[in-house]
Amino acid sequence: MVHLATPYRIKGLSLKNRIVMAPMCQYSVSKRDGKPNDWHFVHYASRAIGGTGLIIIEMTDIEPDGRITDFDLGLWSDDQIPAFQRIIDAVHQHDAKIGIQIAHAGRKAEDAPTPVGPSSIPFSSKYKKPRALRTTEVREMVRKFQEAARRAVAAGVDTIEIHGAHGYLIHQFHSPKINNRTDEYGQDLSRFGVEVIQAVKQIMPAEMPLLMRISAVEYWEDGYTLDHTIDLCRKYRDAGVDVFHISSGGEGPVGTNGPSDHPGYQVPYARAIKDALGVPVIAVGNLDDPRLAEATIANNDADMVAVARGMLRDPYWALHAIQELSGLTKEHIPRQYLRAYSL
Ligand SMILES: Cc1cc2nc3c(=O)[nH]c(=O)nc-3n(C[C@H](O)[C@H](O)[C@H](O)COP(=O)(O)O)c2cc1C
Repeated sequence: MVHLATPYRIKGLSLKNRIVMAPMCQYSVSKRDGKPNDWHFVHYASRAIGGTGLIIIEMTDIEPDGRITDFDLGLWSDDQIPAFQRIIDAVHQHDAKIGIQIAHAGRKAEDAPTPVGPSSIPFSSKYKKPRALRTTEVREMVRKFQEAARRAVAAGVDTIEIHGAHGYLIHQFHSPKINNRTDEYGQDLSRFGVEVIQAVKQIMPAEMPLLMRISAVEYWEDGYTLDHTIDLCRKYRDAGVDVFHISSGGEGPVGTNGPSDHPGYQVPYARAIKDALGVPVIAVGNLDDPRLAEATIANNDADMVAVARGMLRDPYWALHAIQELSGLTKEHIPRQYLRAYSL
């Protein structure tokens, strides 16, 4: 039995295997209008043909100034829905499921004239100084996350991933070194994230699971550690997150305990959060050796494995991984390509 190739079900989402395409910004929007184009269409449809169980569309922003660059995807307007729908329909035709990562870059919005954040502390000396959001604006931001999620559901997604990692807005709110607010969003560092989760859940169909990406540890000096993340994830789980997607870092210039990139470098964090809270997790980070990905599932370190750079190199990563693990059957292969395999 190949564990990577076994089906997985969470609420109403049934996946044919445990392989996830991690969200990856393409910075390829043509008209700065947030709409995916033919590049995105081919990019996502190919990974569906390539056997991926769940595709997560790259960071897609809830307002124009929430983009890292003006070439990012966005869902701040209803007229962006059809372009996403076209990709989602194609992915479904090729027997894969698809979600979307909704986000706001906060102080890491590079093209925004004045980026916003929980505080006015910049990401680094090379970044613009952000403006601290007023309390009413924070509440408005929660509503913008909800509206983007509503549009994603209208476009036909099977799941939504809230981006709470890599130093973007939600991470900025729950990071003790970035959030120095004195209002309710500073007194409780998880409050913004919790409200976003609750607002998004309100408009999602009851059977649709909610994913959240989180940085398990920070890499700058005196950054938060796994204990803080487990506390956050407990609150986020209780607010409605069904699956955590465990990454790390991205909050600011790295210190002496900077990130590693060895095979499986983030798997121990995924396992720790799964064990502490009894929640399903997606592990990610240099897992493109099929044997390591297989071990991650077989050892119950994670419920799903996400691959990013490996899928940029090989859109058929999923099929090839299952083949290398000697689990490939005719059912895995697109009918049009069967003659290339001796099965
Ligand atoms: C080109 C590129 C773009 C990325 N964009 C995103 C993104 O939009 N959202 C996100 O959460 N992570 C993003 N990441 C991080 C990946 O999802 C993943 O966590 C990281 O690359 C580690 O996985 P890997 O070793 O399989 O590449 C990106 C990574 C790459 C290489």
